[in-house]
Amino acid sequence: MSMDTGLITLVNKLQDAFTNVGVQQNVDLPQITVLGSQSSGKSSVLENIVGRDFLPRGTGIVTRRPLVLQLINRPAADSKAGVQNGDTPTPGADGNKKNPYEWGEFLHLPGEKFHDFQKIREEIVRDTELKTGKNAGISPQPINLRIYSPNVLTLTLVDLPGLTKVPVGDQPRDIERQIRDMVLKYISKPNAVILAVTAANTDLANSDGLKLAREVDPDGTRTVGVLTKVDLMDQGTDVVDILAGRVIPLRLGYVPVVNRGQRDIDQRKEVSAALEAEKQFFEGHPSYRSKANYCGTPFLARKLNTILMHHIRNTLPDIKSKIASQLAKYQAELQSLGGPLGDANSGNIVLSIITEFCNEFRTVIDGNSNDLSVNE
Ligand code: GDP
Ligand code: NA
Ligand code: MG
Repeated sequence: MSMDTGLITLVNKLQDAFTNVGVQQNVDLPQITVLGSQSSGKSSVLENIVGRDFLPRGTGIVTRRPLVLQLINRPAADSKAGVQNGDTPTPGADGNKKNPYEWGEFLHLPGEKFHDFQKIREEIVRDTELKTGKNAGISPQPINLRIYSPNVLTLTLVDLPGLTKVPVGDQPRDIERQIRDMVLKYISKPNAVILAVTAANTDLANSDGLKLAREVDPDGTRTVGVLTKVDLMDQGTDVVDILAGRVIPLRLGYVPVVNRGQRDIDQRKEVSAALEAEKQFFEGHPSYRSKANYCGTPFLARKLNTILMHHIRNTLPDIKSKIASQLAKYQAELQSLGGPLGDANSGNIVLSIITEFCNEFRTVIDGNSNDLSVNE
């Protein structure tokens, strides 16, 4: 996935600066959330975007707590990035092979680096069961995971339990409402970009994800439709009408994808192989051949990047005024304490970063506005 990550890296700098001056809780930077029915392929979509194999997936209710996944792009060339052991870095998404430049860290296990992504999955499962029990229980308490890698975009993604109607196992009678409330908490934020996931072999008109997305984002300014399982559609059927906006139009359009099926998962098919298979599927299919550039995970990732940039641009004025008022408050406090004043304090650093950010933004945005209109 070749993209300009410079701008998004700037967002991360911004976030760090906020943390340094203690205003993080007042600034909501964009997050990408998945929304859809159970087993529609939400976790699979996220995993393909990340390019690594580490999320619990499968038939039935597998994702039972929100997973807040912060991806941090960190170049392999960084001198501190683990060259001591003499391993050569492996470029590109590489399935389950270990890479000294890629690791995960959980908020609940500070300082512990997971280089083995299989172990990350095991820890997610372990901590999920610890907080919810083994029998299909759910919990709104999020798992926070950071992944550092040269192969990711710097983004925050949120994997969520799927919308469901019928309780199973230890699930409470009102499971439908509980999951709905949990999901609403994430997707209602005006800065949440919603990936409304619907399996292509189900009826779009019945998509619970699309319905809920419409409730929180009636104008469709932050909802992207994702059609999974395109490979499982009946012979002779396709999603061309949906892509063309002739079924349920979405302002930001739909992206069809092909994720790994359960058999691929059981056989440990690597992400890189899955992405290659996806590419071949769309390029070789008579319905999609002519628009293969607008299909598949790489296009989805590119589209997300563009949406994110537009979104940040739109929320910048608000972020700026929040920072300014925090800054004024801190300065007043400092003054009342007789503390040091002047332009060397951290608040001014934040403002200068934001100014740099705004300038950079204009340049990048102007060159990236084309990807948004994708419906044919
Ligand atoms: P979630 O419950 O929405 O997070 O869905 P998962 O990502 O856990 O996927 C549920 C099941 O559907 C798994 O067995 C996946 O392998 C399978 N699956 C997901 N997407 C696709 C796809 O595009 N094609 C095929 N054939 N199977 C898929
Ligand atoms: Na599932
Ligand atoms: Mg899931």
